[in-house]
Amino acid sequence: MRTEEPRAIRLKDYRAPDYKVSKISLDFVLSPEATRVTALMTVARTGVLAPLVLDGEHLKLVSVALDGRVLGTEDYAVDAETLTIDKVPEHFTLEIVTEIAPAKNTSLEGLYLAKGIFCTQCEAEGFRRITYFLDRPDVLAVYTTRIEADKALCPVLLSNGNPIAGGELPGGRHFAVWHDPFPKPCYLFALVAGDLGVITDHFITMSGRKVDLRIFVEHGNEPKVLYAMDSLKRAMKWDEEKYGREYDLDIFMIVAVSAFNFGAMENKGLNIFNDKVLLASPETATDDDYAHIEAVVAHEYFHNWTGDRITCRDWFQLSLKEGLTVFRDQSFSADQRSAGVKRIEDVRLLRLRQFQEDGGPLAHPVQPQSYITIDNFYTATVYEKGAEVIRMLKTLVGEDGYRKATDLYFERHDGQAATVEDWVRCFEDTSGRDLSQFRLWYVQAGTPVIEARGAYDPGQKTYALTLKQSLAPTPGQPVKKPMHIPVRLGLLGKAGRALPLTLEGENAQGPEERVLELTDAEQTFTFVGVDEAPLLSVGRGFSVPATFKVTQSGWERAALMAHDPDSFNRWEAGQTAARTTMLDAISGKVSGPDPLYVEAVGEVLARAKDDMAFAANMLTPPLESEMAMAMTVVDPDAIHAARLTLIRAIAAAHGEKFAALYDSLSATGTFSPDAASAGRRALRNACLRYLTAADDDKAAALAAAHYEAATNMTDMIAGLATLTRMVSPRADAAFAHFYNRFAKDPLVIDKWMGLQAGSSRPDTVERVRTLMGHAAFDIKNPNRVRALVGAFSGNQLRFHAADGRGYALVGETIRTLDKINAMVAARMAGAFETWRRFDDGRQALMRHELETMAKTPGISSNLFEVATKMLG
Ligand code: PHE
Ligand code: ZN
Repeated sequence: MRTEEPRAIRLKDYRAPDYKVSKISLDFVLSPEATRVTALMTVARTGVLAPLVLDGEHLKLVSVALDGRVLGTEDYAVDAETLTIDKVPEHFTLEIVTEIAPAKNTSLEGLYLAKGIFCTQCEAEGFRRITYFLDRPDVLAVYTTRIEADKALCPVLLSNGNPIAGGELPGGRHFAVWHDPFPKPCYLFALVAGDLGVITDHFITMSGRKVDLRIFVEHGNEPKVLYAMDSLKRAMKWDEEKYGREYDLDIFMIVAVSAFNFGAMENKGLNIFNDKVLLASPETATDDDYAHIEAVVAHEYFHNWTGDRITCRDWFQLSLKEGLTVFRDQSFSADQRSAGVKRIEDVRLLRLRQFQEDGGPLAHPVQPQSYITIDNFYTATVYEKGAEVIRMLKTLVGEDGYRKATDLYFERHDGQAATVEDWVRCFEDTSGRDLSQFRLWYVQAGTPVIEARGAYDPGQKTYALTLKQSLAPTPGQPVKKPMHIPVRLGLLGKAGRALPLTLEGENAQGPEERVLELTDAEQTFTFVGVDEAPLLSVGRGFSVPATFKVTQSGWERAALMAHDPDSFNRWEAGQTAARTTMLDAISGKVSGPDPLYVEAVGEVLARAKDDMAFAANMLTPPLESEMAMAMTVVDPDAIHAARLTLIRAIAAAHGEKFAALYDSLSATGTFSPDAASAGRRALRNACLRYLTAADDDKAAALAAAHYEAATNMTDMIAGLATLTRMVSPRADAAFAHFYNRFAKDPLVIDKWMGLQAGSSRPDTVERVRTLMGHAAFDIKNPNRVRALVGAFSGNQLRFHAADGRGYALVGETIRTLDKINAMVAARMAGAFETWRRFDDGRQALMRHELETMAKTPGISSNLFEVATKMLG
């Protein structure tokens, strides 16, 4: 039980380590209940005399020897978190023997056993659950790892680096030795041992070296990693071409495990994946799953340079590796697929998760300034907003300038534990620009609001655009300074003609699109030679993670939807139009959906086949959760009703067009997960949404037929998702059929659970409770919990049911889970992040859940930190 308030760790208190470990040899004798770990390290003092304090938790200490001499208990002190040796020489070796129980480890940090496979997770602070060490990212050592285990149970023995030895041992045991020549922090250490199947391939690097590629999976799953292997090779090639980065070891390995706290982990040469983001087959994976696998495989691979070769000095620099690596994987996916559609998807996610975070009690800067538990800072702000900050840097210095800056970064900091400051300085040094104001993006939390007001002077033919920025206070940051903001924009004339953008004082005619740099609280930019009153298209490509406020008429929005050359802003105009008409309906301003918008959707349908994935996005009105972000006091029932009404009005107006389009897009030929085929499926399934808008028996019949005719998981899920809206025997039959077909595949059963948890049916909360008792549900497996309870907490209508039963279910689950896996419990608690944005009744109910968590005896510091911050 916690006896004192957990202590906050602050960036401003950073001190270089007193000791360095240059080499470490680890020896693991594996066994589920008592694994013996012997760590032999070469240590040197960096400065003045100071006690050696090593981190260690949940360890059974067996022995300590300094320079070969076994220490007595009087020579050191051990508490729950540290091992301290007061007097040590300047250079010495330390041999520490510990014992751990992987089978009992439910936290999934350190060494744990999942479905018979030993596996590690050390980021951020899991290594201290393996042995006593300086568990901080700025201590870089060369690792040699020997693993010994029963050969029948664990024929495969893996660690970082290259394999250097192995052999048989008496008693049916065997061993393997791995050596990683690249110094690394301990959070990148990994070990895997078990009975695994493998698929192998290879890659020839840009300098002609051959790298063995291996993906390890549970036996039988081999065919399901072919897509991941293909993604890996494409990612390796892309990193060579776009960043000049070559892979550095002789072998690169990926392992899929079934129990994992996050998506995947970039351990040097041995990436470990949640099997959810690695395994795919047409029968079991949706198009979104394929895209996600491609992105995560690339993400972890890219970390080899942005994370492993150059790591973080301390955890406040987390975005140095994560923001950058997300930006890299987003760029990769954009190049592999449709860049425009990828941008829409990324922005959608950013707004839903990061804007939400930025506007609530957990708001923090991309570079947090303090934390209690670092696990709580693997956030949308550090990841997704961090990526946006890098995108803006690229916008400011241009494509070539960006490459120069990253080249310098890799050259200057290879082998180091670096800081965000080091990164920004590379941009300054290569571009000659002063980025001191830009640095505020790393330290100021919150989403800027940018108001844009244009004034056209027909006599002078000038258009004066005034941009005004503001940034609301966030916890701990009452006053903000103006930011350095790149605003990409264009002006449209009649029928969508692009007008040249010539700023006052410029001699030559300007381009049709440009980036303005807003640095003051308010600035006016005057364009000259503007022959007609223009239509403003601002924030193109979402050039800044901000909210734009522009006064626009319905007519102007419809014109942008139809003609803006920037596909992002075409989509944005449609979203704004849909949101506006729904908000007007909710506030009682209008009686029916805006006819201009409904008509504009008809135009989208007419041109849908030009870019089907894009059209599918255009046809998806803001989600209920996206609508919530636009309301001062969220009314989940009104939002749900308004969205249904809008969809029904669109369906009524364009029913025949939807039907014709739906029929013309029927699946043909064999399945391919490529972007074009996925786009076709997405568009057809978007049509299905409208064709079933009535939610009556005819709709249920169409959905059931869609489900039955489906030849791939994407279409099956689309049929099922439609049926979740309906109380119908057809829905029950389809769900039963699906369950029977996939009962043996946990990842597919997760989808089955998730769909039921996301249902708008009034009995959803009871159904979720019942499913928690299902044999396939396991609270110890994060995928299962996220698929069922996590999905339910994202069901705005039912989670936020006014009777509070949804809150109670989620609150209860979080408290139970906290004792098993605190990291995942604390993340799930994010479901309550928006509690202050609801009416008094719901606020009281959610507050009660948070208070109950905070008061729970023995609560983890992870959950304590988020619950108390949310209560604020
Ligand atoms: N570093 C991992 C990634 O983003 C995320 C992760 C963090 C995984 C902590 C496990 C534990 O690639
Ligand atoms: Zn990452």
